Amino acid sequence: MESAAVFAGLHPIPGHHNHLLGPSRTAIKLLPPSIDKINFSPLPLKFQKQSHFTSYIGNSAINSGNSFRVASPASDVASELADIDWDNLGFGFMPTDYMYSMKCSQGENFSKGELQRFGNIELSPSAGILNYGQGLFEGLKAYRKHDGNILLFRPEENATRLKMGAERMCMPSPSVEQFVEAVKATVLANERWIPPPGKGSLYIRPLLMGSGAVLGLAPAPEYTFLIYVSPVGNYFKEGLAPINLVVETEMHRATPGGTGGVKTIGNYAAVLKAQSAAKAKGYSDVLYLDCVQKKYLEEVSSCNVFIVKGNLIVTPAIKGTILPGITRKSIIDVAISQGFEVEERQVSVDELLDADEVFCTGTAVVVSPVGSITHQGRRVTYGNDGVGLVSQQLYSALTSLQMGLSEDKMGWIVELK
Ligand code: COI
Repeated sequence: MESAAVFAGLHPIPGHHNHLLGPSRTAIKLLPPSIDKINFSPLPLKFQKQSHFTSYIGNSAINSGNSFRVASPASDVASELADIDWDNLGFGFMPTDYMYSMKCSQGENFSKGELQRFGNIELSPSAGILNYGQGLFEGLKAYRKHDGNILLFRPEENATRLKMGAERMCMPSPSVEQFVEAVKATVLANERWIPPPGKGSLYIRPLLMGSGAVLGLAPAPEYTFLIYVSPVGNYFKEGLAPINLVVETEMHRATPGGTGGVKTIGNYAAVLKAQSAAKAKGYSDVLYLDCVQKKYLEEVSSCNVFIVKGNLIVTPAIKGTILPGITRKSIIDVAISQGFEVEERQVSVDELLDADEVFCTGTAVVVSPVGSITHQGRRVTYGNDGVGLVSQQLYSALTSLQMGLSEDKMGWIVELK
């Protein structure tokens, strides 16, 4: 892969402020984590024997048998990390200790959830999610700081987006407060799985699903809100190096009036065919176009897209077919604060191919530079040997904030300890 090591320099330096204060073209050179396979070790015995906990939303009390403890059930082992190869995390599922579960019936509100040992769940074969795809997911991350603090990034934004999606998918949803408290409880319960500073993050995956049985097409009679977590490193196999995208001209991700603007599970199954074909040809992922005029950018399978031309940064406007990414929204604000001009509007393929730089944003991908785009057989490369200095700068600013290495002037960080 061309210019593989170049985006590498984007790890914020522990103890240093890396948040650059204006449109700067200065690259930061630091070492990337190397990506290899993960060695998973089973739980230590003391964790295997740990009992079932119940946490009550609204206060942080956890019921452990007869006694209540405030804070994490794993707080007594906070300094003890899971025994895995922290230097080689990728973006793969790794089971952890606890998951969170909360149920409610149709027409009612979620009221009380609990932490449970992580494990398989039982569903009726007739569950709404299995038969008719009535489900949503979210994604956010927790970072461990050098001082032991644990940081969440804008969790209330995920809660709000889940509520909007639930409304579209005819599901009840937890309140913003319930969502955030449940996320905090799940992260603290799995504290030993949060990577050491600079090694990655704990990916948090909330799910909302129609878990009740239906046969005729209708909203399910019962819903389950569930959160599980997994330690992760970089999303793309390229690591932090630029990715290579292909523009898909036949298959579409979303349609006007459809569900492209919410994080429903079916949106992701719908892209697998084009994504698999692209990967088989050596591309990193697929960039989708609007399904009406087939010439305006929508998004990549798992992330939003931005183009850069001089001091101007442009991203497709949110109009029902594009997921309103929280990283997307944050990068827009960070870019404006750094003196860039930002526009949300239609972006044509011609404009894309003429850009100085292209990058993707998402919780999982963070800010991922694009090294090349292929459209109808024509391949265009970006930046200086694939390196996008604007994406470098924005990546650095965002991750410095998320990891607690720069001052949170935006008020986006939620500290857990
Ligand atoms: C995320 O970025 O968190 C997502 O939900 C995308 C997913 C396909 C990994």
